[in-house]
Amino acid sequence: MSTPTIEWIGGVDGHLRLIDQTKLPAETELLDCETVDDVWWAIRKLSVRGAPAIGVAAAYAVVLATSDSHESVKSACDHLATSRPTAVNLFWALDRMRRVADDADRDELAERLLAEAKAIHSEDAEQCAAIGRHGADLLEQTLAKGSGILTHCNTGALATGGDGTALAVLFELHRRGFGPHVYADETRPLLQGSRLTMWELTDRGVKATLICDSMAAQVMREGRVAAAIVGADRIAANGDSANKIGTYGVALHAKAHGLPFYVAAPTTTFDLSLATGAEIPIEERAASEITKPGGVMFAPEGVEVYNPAFDVAPAELIAGIITERGVINPVTTDTVTKMVAN
Ligand code: MRU
Repeated sequence: MSTPTIEWIGGVDGHLRLIDQTKLPAETELLDCETVDDVWWAIRKLSVRGAPAIGVAAAYAVVLATSDSHESVKSACDHLATSRPTAVNLFWALDRMRRVADDADRDELAERLLAEAKAIHSEDAEQCAAIGRHGADLLEQTLAKGSGILTHCNTGALATGGDGTALAVLFELHRRGFGPHVYADETRPLLQGSRLTMWELTDRGVKATLICDSMAAQVMREGRVAAAIVGADRIAANGDSANKIGTYGVALHAKAHGLPFYVAAPTTTFDLSLATGAEIPIEERAASEITKPGGVMFAPEGVEVYNPAFDVAPAELIAGIITERGVINPVTTDTVTKMVAN
């Protein structure tokens, strides 16, 4: 990908430039955000999305608030925290920015916050690379060359500050000559799989086949895939993992077919304050995403709709969680805590 997903333009008085992911793959349009509210909307509308990318974008957004004072930084953090509820990376990044602000004098505030946002961005890129290496080591040892691997949603360079999480593993396998054949769920209702994942895989020359979400079980039964790998938005202390709606179904299908189901996520996606996935807040989004995508009527006017954006795959269905520090396997409160808590 030649255009960065997230880019800070200029110095402390600069602004944030994003790829507007709502326009992909038809157009690669850039979105220049000059205010905190511009970034709030970009996150809410999914112009920037994916747990790590939301955290990075929010961190830069805080820099846009610094012209006034510590007070404006605090209210920017409070406001940004209301943009989306599930991805914990958002709250983690805002806490980090708050801590830097608390420690900074007024005359150094903007500079310190910009440096912190850039650090969050580059650390995420490093974590993506390490996840890619650990995941590729694991899959190279356990799967045959050229195996089919199913993925759900988008977990690549568009979703992170680097090369991705689950997709970073697949990119690394491709780079090593393993030749993975990726089956990408289209990912209803907003089609992150077909619009974004297929765009990234094609761009990098990875062999990929697009399927509807409802085809995953059949693809497994036909022996087309040997494993499934997905990302996460928030992982509880016991390893229960929230990810894009439909992920739980993929995990159940994998179990029924005796296939390993892996989650790939940086340690910034864990929320050890929650004992289990039952406590993870699940975002509900507008009915129109299902009834009128792109303004076209897909359902009769006024029908009742339920549109949760995420679901939770229970730890017992997860063969391993691939982090930048290594692979958590088996997935239990004990092994998660050992790997993640500092
Ligand atoms: O609603 P989205 O597109 O932000 O949901 C994204 C996902 O569910 C991703 O799988 C997750 O954030 C991991 S991204 C590395």
